[in-house]
Amino acid sequence: MRIEILETTQEIATRVSEVLLQQVRQKPDSVLGFATGSSPIETYQKLIEAKKKGTVDFSRVTTFNLDEYCGLEPTDPHSYYAFMREQLFAPAGFCYENVHFLSGLAEDHEAICRAYREEIARCGGIDIQLLGIGRNGHIGFNEPSDSFSDGPFMVQLAQSTLDANARFFENGTPPRYALTMGVGDILAAKKILLIATGESKARAIRAMVRGDVTPQCPASALQNHPDTTVYLDRAAAQLL
Ligand code: GLP
Repeated sequence: MRIEILETTQEIATRVSEVLLQQVRQKPDSVLGFATGSSPIETYQKLIEAKKKGTVDFSRVTTFNLDEYCGLEPTDPHSYYAFMREQLFAPAGFCYENVHFLSGLAEDHEAICRAYREEIARCGGIDIQLLGIGRNGHIGFNEPSDSFSDGPFMVQLAQSTLDANARFFENGTPPRYALTMGVGDILAAKKILLIATGESKARAIRAMVRGDVTPQCPASALQNHPDTTVYLDRAAAQLL
């Protein structure tokens, strides 16, 4: 695991976007794994800037998002699909037929999860997976638990995650369940870029980097990945 500590969130966004842009310029039909949350937003803005300048074309890129809340229509403004459409896919010119999401509306969620994994494999695997991290060390929506998940699955969200994400919901209550890629799916990505900023992430970052590899800190599994780079500001890195 490589660690890069940068001074500002803008510097982090510049570094991470450069890696993603280089990937897409070299391989226009790249497969990218995307994350939601506030951590990647500035990176997404840099990708949009590059598209507007005409220095990149995302129309042949295939995407897989990490996770989605159960029970929300894609048109629901709180859904992660809506988040990605607004923050990246529409302004950066991604082609919707290449965009993949776990459907939080599916009745047979096990079938949806199996199909998602098969589709990632059919597309040749994920070239670069972008990640944030939860305050409790979750990646995607893989909450602390007794074992590492392998493939996509339905998860009951931890109270600390519901509290952290309540700010995105006017009524203060996110759905209790979500579908997420498993830790195994994330580790299968060829390259992983993780962004964490702010003091609220410092303990999770310490556990991820310095702690044991344990499903109690799902992000610690990244210690076993051959090509992961973690981009931190000083506040997130303060306990390393
Ligand atoms: C959410 C998402 C994660 C994200 C994390 C951190 O729960 N499911 O994919 O990485 O929270 O979010 P933020 O970047 O807003 O701190």
